[in-house]
Order: sequence, then C-alpha cells, then structure tokens
Amino acid sequence: MHPACLYDYRALAQKRLPSFLFGYLDGGSFGELTMRDNEAAWARHRLRQFVLRDVSKLEVSGSLLGRAASLPLALAPVGLAGLMRRRGEVQAARAAEAFGVPFCMSTVGLCSIEEVRAATREPFWFQLYLLRDRGIVKELLARARAAQCSALVFTVDLARLGIRYSDIRGGVNAPPTLKSQLTRVLDVLKHPRWLADVAIGGQPLVFGNLTQYVPAARNPEHFKAWVDSQFDPSASWKDIEWLRTQWDGPILLKGILEPDDARMAASVGAQGIVVSNHGGRQLDGAQASADALPRIAEAVAGKLTVLVDGGVRYGNDLIKARALGADGVMLGRPWAWALAARGEQGVREVLGMVDNELRNSLGLMGHTSLNDLTRDSLLSPVARD
Ligand code: FNR
Repeated sequence: MHPACLYDYRALAQKRLPSFLFGYLDGGSFGELTMRDNEAAWARHRLRQFVLRDVSKLEVSGSLLGRAASLPLALAPVGLAGLMRRRGEVQAARAAEAFGVPFCMSTVGLCSIEEVRAATREPFWFQLYLLRDRGIVKELLARARAAQCSALVFTVDLARLGIRYSDIRGGVNAPPTLKSQLTRVLDVLKHPRWLADVAIGGQPLVFGNLTQYVPAARNPEHFKAWVDSQFDPSASWKDIEWLRTQWDGPILLKGILEPDDARMAASVGAQGIVVSNHGGRQLDGAQASADALPRIAEAVAGKLTVLVDGGVRYGNDLIKARALGADGVMLGRPWAWALAARGEQGVREVLGMVDNELRNSLGLMGHTSLNDLTRDSLLSPVARD
C-alpha cells in the first residue's frame, strides 16, 4: 500500500509490530471513550469556505516558543519509541529536524538525551514527569540543560498511571509467567522484520535516560515497572514552583484541561501549556482536548503559549486548533505509527502530509495564512459546559 493519509501508517504499523507493542501504542484507558472522543471532537467542527480570494501564496510557518517552525506543530513525547523502530527516538528527532519542527523526547525513551543530541543539530524539547526522587529529577534536568534542550515539557496528568486494558492483555505491566513469555516469543517470531530491526539490531533495549538508576533492569518492562513506581501522586502546584527554580528555560505544563489550571500554570511561571488528556490514556471520560481548548485559550490568551494534542489526524485539525485559539498542536500516535512503518522517512512523510493537507484546506477556505483564522472561520457545535 502507498500511504495516502496518517491512518494508513496505523495499518502498516499494525502489520509490522508484535501485537503487544501495537496494543501499547494504540490503546487508551478503560473503554477508550476519551481517546475516541478526541478524534470525534475535531470532526464536529466544520470549516467555512470563501471563494475567489487569490490564494496562490500560502503561509503556514510560524514560531513556537520563540523559535521558527515550518509548521506550528511538535512531535509529542511518546515513551518506548525506540521499540517501534531501531533507535527510534534518533530517527524521529532527525525527521523533525529535517522538516523544521520540534521533537519532544520522552523521559522513557530507549535512546538517551545524549544519543539524540549527538545525532541532531537543532535543539529538541525534553519531557519529564515528577519522579518521587527529586535528586533524579535534578540530574535529568542538568543533562537536558547540557544537551541544550530548548524547552521542558512537564507532564502533569500522570499522578497515577492510567489503566489500559490493551497493556493488561498484552502482559506489558504484569510480571512474566511461563505462558506469557511463550506467547510473547510467538508474537515476536510472527514479526521477523521487527525482530531483526529492533530486537536484534536495535540493542541495547534499555531506557537510555535511566540506566544508572535501575541497574538491575534487563529489559524495557523492568524499567517501566520502576518508572511506574516513581510517579508521585503527592505532586502539587508547589512542586511546579520548585521546578521553576530548577530550570531557567521555557516550561510547558502538559495535561491541562481546565481554565483554572491554565491560569495557575501562568501564575507559577510556566511559559505554556499543552491542552491534553494524554491521548485518552489516563482519565477515561475526561473531556476531549478540542472541546476543552476554546475556554482555556480564552482564559490565558496572550499570557501563555497554548498547544493542544489528542486526536490530531488531518491537516484540517491543525486549522481547527488554530481557529479555536491554540498556537499549535502536538502529534502523538501518528508519528509513532509512521516510525514503526517506515522509520525516519515515514515520520518525514507524515509531516509532509499534514503540511500538504493544511495548505490545501487553508486555500480552499479562502485564507492565505494561519494567522487569518479565528473562531469565525469555523461552524462549531454549541459548547457543552
Ligand atoms: C504517550 N504520551 C506520553 N506523554 C508524555 O508526556 N510522556 C510520555 O512518555 C508519553 N508516552 C506515550 C506513549 C504512547 C504510546 C502514546 C500513544 C502516548 C502522550 C502523548 O504525548 C500525547 O499526549 C498523545 O499521544 C496525543 O494524542 P494522540 O495524538 O496520540 O491522539
């Protein structure tokens, strides 16, 4: 198949990845209501079309946190990307750099901050969770600073890890039994391209940023168990004030769904927020991010950079995000599908598709710049509070 849209990479990824891994990538929490609603919420908005307005020259580039970007889009942090493709974080970071958008590296990548730094020229963003051990947080921040990471994306919607049925079924979090190990081996053997590229060719399969803290860990699942035990449910706004003293670059708080929390983010000194429900992987039943966006953007207009993620699957979704008040979007699963399917080139192709779709629709709407978009550019459903 020659992929025509972002979903085509999902189908390719499903073929290539062992099923436990595709389940980890694709799943959400509980009944996946929020995950599905993320996509549906973008689809509920309609685009207004104006004709005969010279749209021969289009402008879709801009800046994110003060740096030029060829699209107002960043690759969202996706843990274990290095299991999707050999040294996956490096491949994705290179694709983002070639395209001219920021790559945000997850705390729980297989490649370390230093490995990604050595493979790229442009600064990337670093995502961090609040770990119980603040000493480790400080050390990770020092490494991100040394690697010249240009923004810290601090994820705040993971006080507890969401319950994802696909991970339970795939045995991702459970201690291995003889039966589950056998099932895993068969699963992997059925995917020889992945076996050769990642399981054999992509070693070492350890969490590059955390190796010194979990020396006994032998595989990504051991690391994951350690990280899960490190999520700090006692985290509060005071910790963000502390974080502010530890990092002098821009901080984006990721996982905001309420205007009051967005205002708090501004008052504790963050530069931005990501309106996000973690791609429907945390609180199932939480509001779709596209639905949460307008009131949040209104509450902090001019004070914070506002990004949004969750269910962005078409260039049109970026148009809708801008019209609803976001400065830009983050793309999650689609870049990881593309990475699994076709590596660095796949991620570049996906970015190219978003760009192409965006230009196509912008012109057909009768606009020449993303800056022309306002709430009035959409026909939107009545907001539900
Ligand atoms: C994530 N996400 C995530 N977020 C984060 O802050 N740190 C992380 O390590 C991860 N890991 C992760 C793994 C996988 C497999 C997925 C799918 C997602 C959430 C991610 O950054 C983003 O918020 C969502 O993926 C956006 O939704 P879509 O685009 O996937 O619908």
